[in-house]
Amino acid sequence: MKYNNKQKITKAVIPVAGLGTRFLPFTKTIPKEMLPILNIPSIEYIVKDAVNAGIKDIIFVTSARKKALADYTDSYLWLEDELRKKNKIEELKLIQFLPKIANYIFVRQSKQLGLGDAVLKAKYAIGNEPFALLLGDDILLNNFKNITNDSILKNLINSYQKYQSIIVLLKKIEGKEIEKYGVVGIEKKIDQKNFLLNSLIEKPTFKKAPSDLAIMGRYILEPKIFDYLEKEQIDPNTGEIQLTNAISKYLLDKNNVYGVLFEGKRYDMGNLLGFLEANIDFALNDKKYRKVFAELLKEKIKNI
Ligand code: UTP
Repeated sequence: MKYNNKQKITKAVIPVAGLGTRFLPFTKTIPKEMLPILNIPSIEYIVKDAVNAGIKDIIFVTSARKKALADYTDSYLWLEDELRKKNKIEELKLIQFLPKIANYIFVRQSKQLGLGDAVLKAKYAIGNEPFALLLGDDILLNNFKNITNDSILKNLINSYQKYQSIIVLLKKIEGKEIEKYGVVGIEKKIDQKNFLLNSLIEKPTFKKAPSDLAIMGRYILEPKIFDYLEKEQIDPNTGEIQLTNAISKYLLDKNNVYGVLFEGKRYDMGNLLGFLEANIDFALNDKKYRKVFAELLKEKIKNI
């Protein structure tokens, strides 16, 4: 069956099944996507961005021992009643928010065979349509003034509507840091933000990196990617099926792949420093806490 690739993108995959070794022991029972920025789990920012971009159905790829996230998307009626009784309306709105804004579907990845395998697990929930992929540990922000309306995914979807092919989000990374990422080669700079790509390489050495542009955790993928993922072998060095390799083969089969440049701020919630920085920045930009928190921070820094 041929799909109509002009159709709206309404489904998003969010894989949350990784081992999260950098955040053990917390990730023993709770996915790192539940780590909070202030009082909000980071997954809520990601889902909000997806919904602002027009996504209706969220497919979580999850694993055993990580029920906290599924529970978090559910309505807790007894707690709602308690909050109503106590007239805690703001708190009531907070707990009602996520369950209301999207439909949630859960699929399992029972063996942690990498991001490529996690995406493949969503194949039947996606069917034959283009979809968004958002990695839950990448918190991306254009600016603090417009957190709720500023959808980064929307920019990718706009590029998809124009180019009708796979789109990845790119960010400039300085120096040897690039070795931690999937990196792209540039065939053509179309305009200030859009690039036609000619290669994708997962975690190259600094010398072999084809550019300083790394893939961030947002993609628009075509359903054809599942055929490539099914053929992909487990990488003997990592024990994982790499999504980057599957997209690279899709590109080598004469399909275009595009990159959209992101120049805002990224927090890697998968490591402790990223998590701390996100919390400090959000606190310093929070209406209620900014003043008192800045004072507290100044006081602490004085004593270092
Ligand atoms: P990471 O590369 O950050 O791996 O995965 P990880 O296992 O979560 O974390 P570390 O490196 O051990 O600390 C990127 C995204 O892909 C998901 C993760 O949940 C994360 O959102 N993922 C990764 C899976 O769903 N399944 C996998 O097998 C691997």
